[in-house]
Amino acid sequence: MSYKDFPKVELHLHFEGAAPPAFIRSLAKEKNIDLSGIFDARGNYLYRDFDHFLSVYDAACTTLQSPEDFRRLTLAVLEESAANGVVYTETFLSPDFCGGGDLGAWREYLAAIEDGAAEAERTMGITLKGIITCIRHRGPELAKLSAHCAVETYGDFIVGFGMAGAEMMGRPGDFAYSFDMAREAGMPLTCHAGEWGGPDMVADTIRDLRPARIGHGVNAIHDLSLVEKIADEGIVLEVCPGSNVFLNATGDWPKHPIKELRARGVKVTVSTDDPPFFGTTMTREFDMLAKTFGWGDDDFRALNRTALDAAFCDRATKARIAGKLEKA
Ligand code: ADE
Ligand code: ZN
Repeated sequence: MSYKDFPKVELHLHFEGAAPPAFIRSLAKEKNIDLSGIFDARGNYLYRDFDHFLSVYDAACTTLQSPEDFRRLTLAVLEESAANGVVYTETFLSPDFCGGGDLGAWREYLAAIEDGAAEAERTMGITLKGIITCIRHRGPELAKLSAHCAVETYGDFIVGFGMAGAEMMGRPGDFAYSFDMAREAGMPLTCHAGEWGGPDMVADTIRDLRPARIGHGVNAIHDLSLVEKIADEGIVLEVCPGSNVFLNATGDWPKHPIKELRARGVKVTVSTDDPPFFGTTMTREFDMLAKTFGWGDDDFRALNRTALDAAFCDRATKARIAGKLEKA
């Protein structure tokens, strides 16, 4: 039994990190870019550890050079998601990779991504929304450019602001200016924390950046008073178990804290992070949770509802997606 056809909501997906390796290879070939070092003999992405993963990620992104490349990427990514039953997905978009943080360039890339998303909605029935993310290891000044792009293009498609990248670089408060800008514009917020950092990083992120959602957050489990606070305040965790297991952030599946976090009343959701990099799909995430923890249809319906409640899109979109989930 597989959850392949079970409808799913995904909230944590890095757009370039979802690029099928074959897609990146074909762009590289078209543009004569030598990327042989980033693939293994079977054509999968190849890296040693998380820091190396981030540089392989950047290398793959050198093939994405124009709005049209991003329109094609949109279709390639959504085809994979739709094939795994995803009906709604929010994806992290970084102006750093789309014109280097320049607002005019970003608008052109965004228009192309929206074009691809509209086509995917028509042909595959999947809905995409974007969350603009600054990249932590590029520092607070570049983050401000991303926040500016976010505030200026916040609307029907760009629905939130967040931060990804190397979690151990700097402290959350270094990015408060950018998060304040986005919050003052009314944007919902999310931030990676507690994937590599300990409970202190999660606590500082909550205190200094005040996000409604946290990317990963799993290391909060090492401080049960923090877990209680997260549960009490209704902060939603975008948990990516397959990613954590693959990168060895948490230990193997039976040791993954998602079950305990959920049992302690935390609003947990399930996502893939960078699916081809971590050998996963939303189907595999559901299947592994079923196999490891014995979760069944009712659990997955509840996870989907939590995710849809926590989604940053407008009410009409939520109502439409809720209709699709009811069929499960
Ligand atoms: N950027 C792409 N994938 C990421 C991850 N898993 N954590 C932080 N930054 C990322
Ligand atoms: Zn992530």
